[in-house]
Amino acid sequence: MEQTFIMIKPDGVQRGLIGEIICRFEKKGFTLKGLKMISVERSFAEKHYADLSSKPFFNGLVEYIVSGPVVAMIWEGKNVVLTGRKIIGATNPAAAESGTIRGDYAIDIGRNVIHGSDAVESAQKEIALWFPDGPVNWQSSVHPWIYE
Ligand code: RTP
Ligand code: MG
Repeated sequence: MEQTFIMIKPDGVQRGLIGEIICRFEKKGFTLKGLKMISVERSFAEKHYADLSSKPFFNGLVEYIVSGPVVAMIWEGKNVVLTGRKIIGATNPAAAESGTIRGDYAIDIGRNVIHGSDAVESAQKEIALWFPDGPVNWQSSVHPWIYE
């Protein structure tokens, strides 16, 4: 089953949005397979966003991610990478649809509350980086009530 890496950024933690965000993924029917609150070092944040290192906003992005604790999660389910991105909404909250997390809870692109992997391959890389011991091994007993 597909997995994605979701991170509640420091603004989401500070603003008390952890429960709301977890709720949206949980109620959709996805399964939580990893969860930890963690403050990361600069070098770790740089590694996570390595693909963006040439961008002019890279330094500010790294400062943002290390500015407080984040909540790192693994979510599992059919098409969870793409569907997770839909639940999150567009990168710039100004363009994010109402009903998405960024559309409902954010205003500026540099304070957009949450990260979600953009492809299955990046999800695998990010899960390996943030959860070196891998996901928690458990199966939800409601599986047959969510999947036909
Ligand atoms: P994320 O990786 O955090 O889920 O966001 P994303 O895929 O929607 O967007 P991405 O292009 O990967 O950018 C990562 C984060 O960098 C900040 N950003 N700032 N000032 C800017 O033009 C700009 N562009 C991107 C955002 O916080 C974005 O989520
Ligand atoms: Mg991204």
